Amino acid sequence: MARLTTSPKIQNAYTDALPASQGLYERARKIFPDAVTHDNRRMQPFPLYVERAEGAYKWDVDGHRYVDYWMGHGALLLGHNPPPVRDAVREQALRGTHYGACHEKEVEWGEWVCRLVPSAERVRFTASGTEATHMAVRLARAATGKRHVVKFAGHFHGWHEGLEIGVRPPYEAEPEAGQLPEVVELVTVLPPNDIRAVRERLARGDVAAVIIEPTGSHFGSIPAPPAFVVALREETRRAGALLIFDEVVTGFRVAPGGAQELLGIRPDLTTMAKILCGGLPGGACAGREDVMSYLATKSDPAENRRAKIAHAGTFNANPLSAAAGVAMLSSVADGQAIRFANQQAAKLRHGLNEILAREKVSWKIYGEHSDWKIFFGADAPPRDGSDQSVAHVDWRRLDAKNAEQSRALRQALILNGVDFNGARALVGTCHTDEILAETLAAFAAAIRAMKEEGFV
Ligand SMILES: Cc1ncc(COP(=O)(O)O)c(C=O)c1O
Repeated sequence: MARLTTSPKIQNAYTDALPASQGLYERARKIFPDAVTHDNRRMQPFPLYVERAEGAYKWDVDGHRYVDYWMGHGALLLGHNPPPVRDAVREQALRGTHYGACHEKEVEWGEWVCRLVPSAERVRFTASGTEATHMAVRLARAATGKRHVVKFAGHFHGWHEGLEIGVRPPYEAEPEAGQLPEVVELVTVLPPNDIRAVRERLARGDVAAVIIEPTGSHFGSIPAPPAFVVALREETRRAGALLIFDEVVTGFRVAPGGAQELLGIRPDLTTMAKILCGGLPGGACAGREDVMSYLATKSDPAENRRAKIAHAGTFNANPLSAAAGVAMLSSVADGQAIRFANQQAAKLRHGLNEILAREKVSWKIYGEHSDWKIFFGADAPPRDGSDQSVAHVDWRRLDAKNAEQSRALRQALILNGVDFNGARALVGTCHTDEILAETLAAFAAAIRAMKEEGFV
């Protein structure tokens, strides 16, 4: 069947259903580039504007309710506004939102990080995950005296110019707008999961650190086999390069101690954000005491210039984020919430693949933790709901977006009361069996609508 490049019926229905969102978009385009404040929130013909959220649901400004699978870009594991976090934030707000001073909650928060994350001997809070990876690279360069950083194609480590490299096709270490070539030259982008390429690059002896999303890029959209990550630990140790786990998404999600707990690997440095802060802004870099000591002040000024990284930040360990973070980490510490979210995600993947099998749609739903992702380019529909492997799919195909299908699916799902980012979804403890049933019915209806328009 001929593939359409636009989806008039679905798109017209979307536009008709969301006049208040469209009105806000018209205002926003006069003030924000692209009308948005985060690239991933762009949407054709205009984005959804959300008014409030609770549990698994969010409501838009036109009064529609959606089952939400954005989950705060991964910052939420217990759903929107979970009572322990909400109460902690409310209580903290009554005591002040910024002391410009040290406070007890930051100590408690730091203790939780060091208790849960196996490699965290020392920790520093930042205001975002982007700042955390910036800090980690700086620490690695200071501690090793080397300049180069290795990262993997497709892996995202925040938007600062030192690592926003090789994330999108053609995955080259090429400067983009406003990026200094001399900064980009210090970063080598290697294909994911290729240990030989890593070994060859490390052999030059100039690498300060290798940074990786430890379950693979975009939370395992291109899964990283555990054996590769184990080998990476060995190779970096042998080469005198630091291993940085970017656990901004995996931290406190795949296990209380993150991917490093699950894999039994100790990175030298770990970056965290999202769940760390219970849905409020923040981040952290943690790791080996000797490496983290490059943030500590030395008594001799000359030594300080050589061995001290200055670190300020108005919102580091902000009391509201600290209160939310303590409430969140204490809620996930025993692993129960994580297990439940994983179990619900597995049920959902099963149900979604069953629908694809029944409707004979050649996509695959996959994922390993509290997530589901769509591979739009599968050669055949799933046979049933069983877990789909993408292990043998070339990583470039897996990372390739199908913008048209993704947009049409997102619009069709929104029209049926479900929202996700168009290719990937995060699951929380709020996604109960009833909510899963609601999601599956919406997915089946969305697929039928897409079929009617020749989209699948
Ligand atoms: C793996 C990873 N690292 C770093 C970041 C950047 O974190 P932040 O958005 O808090 O700056 C993100 C954000 O999505 C991420 O997914």
